[in-house]
Amino acid sequence: MNLKSIYILFLFLCFGGVLYFPCFAQKQQKEKRGLKDVYNTDFLIGTALNISQFERKDIRADKIIRHEFNCITPENVLKAEVVQPAWGRFDFRLSDKFVDYGIRNNMSIVGHTLIWHSQLPPFVKNITSKDSLQQFMEQHIAKVAGRYSGKIKGWDVLNEALNEDGSFRNSVFLEVLGKDYITNAFKLAAMASPHTELYYNDYNIEQPAKRNGAITIIKQLQLAGARIDAIGIQGHWHLGKIPYQDIEESIIAFSELGVKVMITELDLEVLPRDFSGAEVGHRMVNSPGLNPYPKALPDSLQRRLATDYEKLFKLFLKHKDKISRVTFWGVADGNSWLNDWPLKGRTNYPLLFDRNYQPKEAYYKLINLKL
Ligand code: XIL
Repeated sequence: MNLKSIYILFLFLCFGGVLYFPCFAQKQQKEKRGLKDVYNTDFLIGTALNISQFERKDIRADKIIRHEFNCITPENVLKAEVVQPAWGRFDFRLSDKFVDYGIRNNMSIVGHTLIWHSQLPPFVKNITSKDSLQQFMEQHIAKVAGRYSGKIKGWDVLNEALNEDGSFRNSVFLEVLGKDYITNAFKLAAMASPHTELYYNDYNIEQPAKRNGAITIIKQLQLAGARIDAIGIQGHWHLGKIPYQDIEESIIAFSELGVKVMITELDLEVLPRDFSGAEVGHRMVNSPGLNPYPKALPDSLQRRLATDYEKLFKLFLKHKDKISRVTFWGVADGNSWLNDWPLKGRTNYPLLFDRNYQPKEAYYKLINLKL
């Protein structure tokens, strides 16, 4: 090699470096951005937190939560049985920690949930007088929503008040107070926490009959002059059976009524189950074959999970003007409630991070959609 060719080679390497390194640096930087960053102009990306996560005992989850999500929902600690275990006795020790975690990390905080038929303290179910139940609702909402006024971005004021056919669910609230309890709950929440968004949240409300029920609720509230800001479609769907068209039609139908749409509890069931939705009281009887992947999810299903999540997010992005948030119901597969519901002790794989807190193919699909 003569001196001239060495010189040319030298120039080539220098230029190559100049051109190559910025691209490389940019790529590295992009990969370091979490879901919340790549979707930051589209909608909030949330997750549900359990106690060890917001107490920062689960260090590996904590790292993921702070890197990937800008919105949090408490999986259980703001439910009535936790915050008001006995009549008039409130316990905010855990929910305060949850809210502090969100504030410290600059996250939007969702309150879940004020009025729900499930995870109620036992005394509520025994109330038979209208006055007493009305008093419970007033005190509960005033105390709980009032405590976090200005800190919580939005409340699931009412959770799961509908049957599958779109009629009102027969809870203690409906039985004792009649359907006006719904309007009442929203008005009470607006009084207790005036600047907080107010939501109705339910599963299967993408399906036409139940969707009509949700539309009835929105209209009932609007007609009574009560505020409702958004509808939460929970999004507990099944691998390979996601009702994309119903979801799209619902996003459009809700949005036409002037409310935002949120996907609030997203996870994809990969195990055998003979019913859809997320009625927590519903249980399955154990039988052979119901826990088919105790060691690992087969590659074909892992790929299917990734493409289903990708297709869902393409749909959400198409309607990003109507959607304000997409929240996953959990961080990593090992902590998902679907390991214990509707059957205890199964090995489920519904989320974006695996049992070792590693991102799955589905995670990269969602990141890549935005790169
Ligand atoms: C679930 C929690 O994830 C579980 O830990 C708990 O045992 C039962 O409730 N719809 C909802 C959520 O609105 O509050 C439920 O969360 C899941 C279904």
